[in-house]
Amino acid sequence: MSEPLKIALAGLGTVGAGVVKLLDANRDLIARRAGRPIEVVAVNARDRNRDRGIDVSRFAWVDDSAELAGRSDVDVVVELIGGSDGAALVLARKSIAAGKAFVTANKAMIAHHGLELADAAEAAATPFKYEAAVAGGIPVIKGLREGAAANLLTQTYGILNGTCNYILTRMEAEGSDFADVLADAQGLGYAEADPSFDIDGVDAAHKLSILASLAFGTRIDFDGIALTGIRHVLAADIEQARALGYRVRLVGLAEADARGLYQRVAPCLVPDAHPLAHVAGSMNAVVAEGNFVGRLFFEGRGAGEGPTASAVVADLIDIARGEVGPAFAMPVASLTKAPRADAGERRGRAYLRFCVADKPGVLAELTAAMRDGGVSIESMIQKGEAPDGGVVVAMTTHEGPARNVRAALDRLEGSPSLTAAPLWMPVLEV
Ligand SMILES: NC(=O)c1ccc[n+]([C@@H]2O[C@H](COP(=O)([O-])OP(=O)(O)OC[C@H]3O[C@@H](n4cnc5c(N)ncnc54)[C@H](OP(=O)(O)O)[C@@H]3O)[C@@H](O)[C@H]2O)c1
Repeated sequence: MSEPLKIALAGLGTVGAGVVKLLDANRDLIARRAGRPIEVVAVNARDRNRDRGIDVSRFAWVDDSAELAGRSDVDVVVELIGGSDGAALVLARKSIAAGKAFVTANKAMIAHHGLELADAAEAAATPFKYEAAVAGGIPVIKGLREGAAANLLTQTYGILNGTCNYILTRMEAEGSDFADVLADAQGLGYAEADPSFDIDGVDAAHKLSILASLAFGTRIDFDGIALTGIRHVLAADIEQARALGYRVRLVGLAEADARGLYQRVAPCLVPDAHPLAHVAGSMNAVVAEGNFVGRLFFEGRGAGEGPTASAVVADLIDIARGEVGPAFAMPVASLTKAPRADAGERRGRAYLRFCVADKPGVLAELTAAMRDGGVSIESMIQKGEAPDGGVVVAMTTHEGPARNVRAALDRLEGSPSLTAAPLWMPVLEV
């Protein structure tokens, strides 16, 4: 068998320790598949003495992650530190400049600096891979970059954050409120102590920006994503949605057509008949529509030690085999800069929920605002108590441009009848 592929690992947390465990457990199988052994030679983390459940004494330890880029005994640098900038970015830039192959699970860094890094990797003719960065263990990067490479893709969307899906599906199963489920999820380790990146949709947006670039051959445009998280979803919304034949899911969706690139992350009403409605707990799923292949549906674990390590090591096996394809399925110079589509023009149905004071005339005020905004109401339900003691009024609309819904909601801005900001959830129409 040929020379081993020699790896340096920066970051030995959940994913880093998982990579060491996986390479140990499946060593022989991986060597046969890769055509050569894959060996960790050097590692780095912040605390050398932390118990990680793995023996790191067999590897060279470096105190500064950036040192890994300069080691002559290393072929591939694997960055598992995290963060869009800081030590992770310094290591990425140095490793690629030194001609090392580079692997990361860091979606935040790719969303913000991925094109720069891919460009540098092309110039250095070295692999740059990130399968673990989107939907953890699901081989969706490979699926889009390789499996679906022959297709014109016009749409990709999915459940891209396991924490949000866990919270929403528990709210659905138990009828519990968001804050209670979040606190419980934090206790169980399903949500971070600071959950804002997850629950405000930022993490899903990082992943969506990468998927959109891969799918459409466009430059990553993270700042072009319209973002709404799940903080304001009430148990009552989930109950209303269920009664109407929908589930509530945080969906990242990107579309590209002649009008430009449309990208949003928002809690949506997903019809029961759609496979995304049945993605439960911390699972992730990604859908892509290709003009020859039709609908592709990928589902699996989007996070956790084992699934994420599985994706990182798949990249290492590719590198061991000599695979040096462009990171975003085509050279960076071939990616187009798509204009942002006018979100107001996008047509669809919507779920709108209002928490209102329990007094006469409020319903008339809501329906007048809809009429004046040009929104046609499909169904209206007045049900349940709002958290502040008022009542919850929910409605679904007929298909129309998002601009009209915005106009209707603007008419209600500052109304004393509303006891909380309205919630607007698009209906997933695909
Ligand atoms: N966890 C998942 O399920 C998952 C899934 C997909 C993608 N990812 C991505 O994978 C990456 C790692 O995530 P994780 O969950 O493994 O994180 P983690 O458990 O917090 O581990 C981070 C590791 O980085 C080390 N570290 C932090 N700052 C450092 C610095 N300045 N220099 C050197 N090392 C530093 C830490 O050292 P100490 O251990 O000494 O503190 C720790 O070993 C992130 O980009 C994340 O977004 C994670």
